[in-house]
Amino acid sequence: MDARLLKIEAARAALSYVESGTVIGIGTGSTAEEFVRLLAAAVAGGMQVTGVPTSERTATLCRELGVPLTTLEENPHLSVTIDGADEVGPELALIKGGGGALLREKIVAAASDRMIVIADATKLVETLGRFPLPIEVNRFGLAATRRAIGAAAARLGLDGALELRMVGEEPFLTDGGHCILDASFGLIPDPRALSNALHAIPGVVEHGLFLDLASVAIIAGQNGINTLAATR
Ligand code: A5P
Repeated sequence: MDARLLKIEAARAALSYVESGTVIGIGTGSTAEEFVRLLAAAVAGGMQVTGVPTSERTATLCRELGVPLTTLEENPHLSVTIDGADEVGPELALIKGGGGALLREKIVAAASDRMIVIADATKLVETLGRFPLPIEVNRFGLAATRRAIGAAAARLGLDGALELRMVGEEPFLTDGGHCILDASFGLIPDPRALSNALHAIPGVVEHGLFLDLASVAIIAGQNGINTLAATR
């Protein structure tokens, strides 16, 4: 089965976590987009669901396909969020933000009773860090923030390039108007320590380590669906 079909299978399995009459968070990325397509078909078939999108990209797709939308202002508490991930590690610790939507994704996941991750089996890792960690930073003081991130990482024994994400000649800007530094630290043995260290840096808006947020991961592989649950 090719990668897209695996994403569709994971997305299909996630539909069973969505109850009619609820408000849900809707993630960003190619896997989440497959979920939006299936959700739109369910809505067309009579399911009553309203979504809080985690990016302008997801909002646009939902509008095109007829999935009703709302905001966290109107619905600050969600039953469930369905979203993809760049890596899924032990205890369902995640790296997210490959698509640049990490800040809204984290806010929406934190506002939800449960975050359900959908991914193909290539995303499963024993230790996070093969995928560069996206760090969303304020444009003001970017060089100083980058320096502070490098120093904080070094104190944890981590080292590696901090690349400003670009779109052509211009820095990539998130929906919130911030930049992204992609940190190639390599394997991250203590994600919590890194998370705390990054949060202590004033120019860091958010980072792509999602710890204690995902409840369930639906992993689609060549042998079928594997559903992992966090033990906390
Ligand atoms: C978006 O910013 C990301 O967090 C995505 O959820 C993540 O990159 C997974 O995307 P894919 O489903 O496209 O791999």
